[in-house]
Amino acid sequence: MIVAIDGPAGTGKSSTSKAVAAQLGLSYLDTGAQYRAITWWMVNNGIDIDDPAAIAAAAGKPEIVSGTDPQAPTISVDGVDVAGPIRTQEVSAKVSAVSAVPEVRARITELQRSIAASAANGVVVEGRDIGTTVLPDADLKIFLTASPEARAARRSGELKGADVHSTREALIKRDAADSSRKTSPLAKADDAVEVDTTELTLAQVIECVVTLVEEKR
Ligand code: C5P
Repeated sequence: MIVAIDGPAGTGKSSTSKAVAAQLGLSYLDTGAQYRAITWWMVNNGIDIDDPAAIAAAAGKPEIVSGTDPQAPTISVDGVDVAGPIRTQEVSAKVSAVSAVPEVRARITELQRSIAASAANGVVVEGRDIGTTVLPDADLKIFLTASPEARAARRSGELKGADVHSTREALIKRDAADSSRKTSPLAKADDAVEVDTTELTLAQVIECVVTLVEEKR
């Protein structure tokens, strides 16, 4: 059972994906964390984020390892646990530029496919291009949406009191960059089920997705 969950930032993808995977005994893969991890490495190694050729040349260097237990997912780069550092505003502001570089996408996509192929019980994979590009044969594809206001409110709550207005601006900017890039942009697959989470609680979204998975089993 392969479940692809895509959508913009702040729609509840991570919370939903983790809970659904835990409830159904599936593995969980946060592909955004992988793009954040490679971005963190680029920043730490002095790679100019405005230079796609430099990013492309370095794309193969860091070793990125994702732990796929939905109860305790992990992410490391060259053996260093980066779960905390990848969530900074700096990484959030730079990740779209790094993830738009085709060499970065090719590398991370290959990693994602091999993780999905080795997940014995199946996997919930969350991201932006999972249903369209990474796993086009997924058994179930979900595309989560929510109004920009709802997304900003949720994200600023997670960031413990960050200003809602600036969070909203940063999210809109990141989504625009992710949606307009040439290589596998953020997009809904034709065969994805769209779930608008604006008026739903997290528990309702989880229930909705669990029901959709069980219908496919
Ligand atoms: O999901 P999260 O907000 O952590 O993703 C961070 C960034 O990683 C996105 O804004 C996007 O630039 C990139 N990303 C991507 N493709 C994916 C997942 C994330 O380009 N499948």
